[in-house]
Amino acid sequence: MTPSGLFAPLQIGPMRLQNRIALPAMVTRLSGEDGFVNQAVTDRYLRYAQGEPGLIVLEAMAVHRSKSGPLLRISGDEYVHGLRELARAIHGSSGACVVPQIIHFLKVARSGWRQTVDMLSTGEIRGIVQDYAAAAYRAAEAGMDGVELHMAHAYTLSSFLSKRNPRADQYGKGLEGRLRLASEVVAAVRAAVGSDFPVGVRFLGDECIKGGYSTGEARQIALRLAQLGVSYISLSAGGKFEDHVPREGQPPYPYTGYSGDRCMPSHEYPDGVNLYMPIAVKRYLTEHGFATPVIAAGKIATRAMAEAVLRDGQADLIGMARGLLADPDLPRKWRDGQDEKVVRCIYCNVCKNLDENFREVRCFLWPKGAGHAPAVHAWSLPDAPAGLTAQWRGGAVRLSWAKAAAGSGVQGYDIFRSDDGATWERIWAGSLAGYTDVAAPAGRTWHYMVQAWDGAGNRSPLSAPVVVDLPMPAFALGGESGE
Ligand SMILES: Cc1cc2nc3c(=O)[nH]c(=O)nc-3n(C[C@H](O)[C@H](O)[C@H](O)COP(=O)(O)O)c2cc1C
Repeated sequence: MTPSGLFAPLQIGPMRLQNRIALPAMVTRLSGEDGFVNQAVTDRYLRYAQGEPGLIVLEAMAVHRSKSGPLLRISGDEYVHGLRELARAIHGSSGACVVPQIIHFLKVARSGWRQTVDMLSTGEIRGIVQDYAAAAYRAAEAGMDGVELHMAHAYTLSSFLSKRNPRADQYGKGLEGRLRLASEVVAAVRAAVGSDFPVGVRFLGDECIKGGYSTGEARQIALRLAQLGVSYISLSAGGKFEDHVPREGQPPYPYTGYSGDRCMPSHEYPDGVNLYMPIAVKRYLTEHGFATPVIAAGKIATRAMAEAVLRDGQADLIGMARGLLADPDLPRKWRDGQDEKVVRCIYCNVCKNLDENFREVRCFLWPKGAGHAPAVHAWSLPDAPAGLTAQWRGGAVRLSWAKAAAGSGVQGYDIFRSDDGATWERIWAGSLAGYTDVAAPAGRTWHYMVQAWDGAGNRSPLSAPVVVDLPMPAFALGGESGE
């Protein structure tokens, strides 16, 4: 039987992806400020590789020598050796393809000052084009399967594409001016790496800021990139400086505002909240005769949603960043029909906050102190959590249950809630033997159950359910209401 859907291979030039699951770039903060690949970086990507995704996009690495916090670099030939070893290690241990995401960014200062695109001379702009071309060439030299040009979020190329680009010369004004630098970079990169080497671009399907562009212009940007022969298009959202929330003594950070939330949508947002972007872009490309593969991302949390996206032609690849951080083995588990063993991301954004504070990016669901997702263990099925109780206190439902015995292998608990005892929703997960549900209004009956899981994702039977019946509070006009 020919595999279809998620496990159908995809050929992108000479790069053959073994399936449709892609790890989009995700900064690890594991590198030093020197920018060299180190053991921790290698271990992180080898862990992803073990899970057998189709594509691994290595975290954004700088094409230029500008100073920054911990960040990988590809800004000089001295970085090629480490990147080559990393590519070799990934290829040696997995069928995944690997491409680095390459980035140019402007300066920011603790005072809140930031360099903007209108401050760049045409000579400096020419330098950016050259930096991208040289970095892409190094990616090919390092044995990468391709390269991804970062044109998303708050960084240089995205700021030129932005509808908020303030330049009044040939690199700004109308859409054609805003497209100019991106187009020059793609052309220069192609000239450097040749016509065969896969060159992908990540850009914004929606800037998610006031006065920014949305899918109408994103479709035009995508079409231009396709006309210039890019090998794939990866869509992201938001992540802009324009609406960042200033933090005392810290340089401006582009993921602190609403557009940052839209970039990494938390559990508050519906699944697939950004899917309208690939839908618009893919349709437009197809209507104009381009088959350029499109990568969708943004809280694509379930297999059913991932399969529907592919089946309905909304995108060609499913980007899963936080989902694969939580459980790098997800692609293998889905492939082998072990869906129930996936340690499912709860989109709590602890990883986002760590990144924001320049701290090593880890997952809230990993065992305490673990530097990487635990390797697969052959634990036996955990016992169902015992002694679940629920109490209404202080306007919230407080759940507690007996903690699994040390040595049981239990790493965490999924918490389920229902308002009819029949349809259950997973509302949270964590390692503690308790949870406070602050999102359960009174005047209702709530049912809860808990399930334990181990490092390999083996799940216990569900606990016995508990029910809390919450009377409607009495609301006295202008007065106190009882609990
Ligand atoms: C900690 C962290 C670091 C990220 N770093 C990058 C990055 O280097 N480049 C990039 O294009 N996107 C980056 N992203 C955005 C992700 O690639 C992805 O688009 C986003 O998390 C939404 O996908 P998800 O819901 O599958 O996590 C990062 C996200 C997180 C959580």
